[in-house]
Amino acid sequence: MAIISRPLFVYLQRPDSGDWVTVGRYKMDTAGEGHFMYAPSYVDAGLTWAIDPVNLPFLPGADVIAPRYQGLHDVLRDACPDAWGQALLRREHNLPADAPPLQYLLKSSNLDRWGALAVGAGAKPPEAQVNAPGLPQLNEVVEELTALAERRPPVRPKIRARLVQTASVGGARPKATVRDDKGQFWLVKPEIGTDAANIPLLEHVCQHWGAASGLNFAATVFHPAAGGRNAVRILRFDRSDRRRYMCVSAASLLQAEYPGLLQTDRWSYPRLAEELRLTGAPVEDRIELFGRMVFNAVCGNDDDHVRNHAIVYRSEERRWRLAPAFDVVPNPVETPGRLHMQLATGRFDISRDTVLADAHRFGFDHRAEATRYLDTLLERIAAAFDGAAAPLDHEWKQMLYERLIHNLAVLRTQSD
Ligand SMILES: Nc1ncnc2c1ncn2[C@@H]1O[C@H](COP(=O)(O)OP(=O)(O)OP(=O)(O)O)[C@@H](O)[C@H]1O
Ligand SMILES: [Mg+2]
Repeated sequence: MAIISRPLFVYLQRPDSGDWVTVGRYKMDTAGEGHFMYAPSYVDAGLTWAIDPVNLPFLPGADVIAPRYQGLHDVLRDACPDAWGQALLRREHNLPADAPPLQYLLKSSNLDRWGALAVGAGAKPPEAQVNAPGLPQLNEVVEELTALAERRPPVRPKIRARLVQTASVGGARPKATVRDDKGQFWLVKPEIGTDAANIPLLEHVCQHWGAASGLNFAATVFHPAAGGRNAVRILRFDRSDRRRYMCVSAASLLQAEYPGLLQTDRWSYPRLAEELRLTGAPVEDRIELFGRMVFNAVCGNDDDHVRNHAIVYRSEERRWRLAPAFDVVPNPVETPGRLHMQLATGRFDISRDTVLADAHRFGFDHRAEATRYLDTLLERIAAAFDGAAAPLDHEWKQMLYERLIHNLAVLRTQSD
């Protein structure tokens, strides 16, 4: 098949030294099929990191065709924006509503791209610097994000230009990255007009609640009335100082196009647990995932879709690990009876039976061990509630408390 488009080079910030290298080459052919190949220079240099352990294992010389995302490989799709960034890029570049994912990869900037990949036209990797506003500018960033979301003219054109230029991170909500004085990067997500509640505060409370229950949740800070809006700031696990860390979404690990075709059979916690095992993550990560599934059930986070879980490469351990939990937000309108991902094969319903049905796939040796873990975790989640919910007003505290009591009863009761 003739290859028509000019090649797009894919660069990787090396997990060990932090140097940028050309890791591979992407091309789209006349039939619209996307091809990826690890670069001969990468192979010759003796480098062997796979950028996606499931879909692009390190196979020198192999020409791998992308089966999803209209010809874009899963991990390159992970490096593209979702609804929010795509909307900004469409406005900026006059892209049609049905622009294929490849367009968003080409139009989004490397500056704020998720993970450790970058793309470009040259065979040599660029000096992809990180360029984010500082924490002292948080109020201005929130004000400008809000103006952007509401399609108002710029308040500060310089910040506006930078926000549009760096709209590479995923997700549907308006967001930006800021850098603190220790060189850490934080996602900033303000409230928006259509929110049914103070979503930034609920997100902050839930992230704290998960961490206080003994789970690995990304750190957050709540900013009331930053730039006139409530906002939550979430520590980024894919960056630190000048270093970026390789990441892969659960959508990619599960080979589940998201958003897109409704491949619900692939949206599954036990399947994701098995992918974690296959990528070499330790059993603690599978048990942590089990714990997050239970936590989502208890707090009513039914937006736990496959782009809300990820793995991150830890170079000091030389292996992929489950990334900290992020975007854990309780449903503000109703107490859900189901999660977005299956808790056991073919089952989305929240019940003790479902939670325990596939426990062996999460690495528990036997059901009694999973039962013990579940009951202890439920105790910890209950005990952590008061402290975590303290910033909420009475009405929302009561709502979450009643949900907690309801779901504790559901998850503690064995059906026959
Ligand atoms: N703490 C974090 N560190 C690194 N990357 C993150 C972090 N939190 C989120 N991300 C990345 O940014 C994307 C968007 O973030 P998030 O899911 O919080 O936004 P959202 O707009 O609320 O998403 P959704 O569309 O699910 O509502 C995630 O899918 C993930 O790729
Ligand atoms: Mg999300």
